[in-house]
Amino acid sequence: MTTKELPKVRLRELTLEDVEDRYQWCLDQEVTKYLNMPNKYPPFSREETKAWIDMCIKRTNGYEQKAIETEEGNHIGWVDLKNIDKQNHHAELGIAIGDQAYWGKGYGLSAMKEMLQYGFDHLGLNKIWLRVEVDNDKAIKSYKRMGYVEEGVLRQDRLRNGAYVDRLRMSILKDEFYKY
Ligand SMILES: CC(C)(COP(=O)(O)OP(=O)(O)OC[C@H]1O[C@@H](n2cnc3c(N)ncnc32)[C@H](O)[C@@H]1OP(=O)(O)O)[C@@H](O)C(=O)NCCC(=O)NCCS
Repeated sequence: MTTKELPKVRLRELTLEDVEDRYQWCLDQEVTKYLNMPNKYPPFSREETKAWIDMCIKRTNGYEQKAIETEEGNHIGWVDLKNIDKQNHHAELGIAIGDQAYWGKGYGLSAMKEMLQYGFDHLGLNKIWLRVEVDNDKAIKSYKRMGYVEEGVLRQDRLRNGAYVDRLRMSILKDEFYKY
């Protein structure tokens, strides 16, 4: 991974006070373009956002979703693990820095690193994988920096604005993560 020191972030439990930030971030179509969200605008209402966060807090949706905070306590995004396969020790990662002011500064990498550590050390995972749309260059660059490798192409895997888009499946193994 990059040798530059990453900005510090804290992953914390979501609270219902996060609803407004999340709702606002989902109004930003540059943030949501590559996220698996409904093709309507806004993708979610405040009520739907609240219901989702409530499910995350109560762990009723299969997600381990955390809020990303800067060292100064600014709430800037979310990161999660889902599709947790306890038998085969793998899970799928998702991430979004919702506040664009924090893009391109290493915050995504820093949050991902914390989540990978959590998944490997606390959830006992061996592999953490993800799906990323083939034209999401920024995210792919970030994942490669982290040490993710491509597993293959999932053909026409997302219906985005009426067109099917391929997604890459990428993954990182526990051994690879700790090698960096
Ligand atoms: C994809 C996403 C999570 C990446 O997060 P990010 O914080 O913007 O990106 P990174 O943490 O990888 O930052 C790397 C960039 O910061 C720069 N940087 C600055 N300081 C740095 C540091 N200390 N360490 C590492 N990189 C640093 C790097 O040079 C790099 O810039 P470059 O891409 O111009 O070369 C974010 O852009 C995002 O949320 N996008 C919208 C939602 C989305 O697409 N999610 C992914 C769906 S699969």
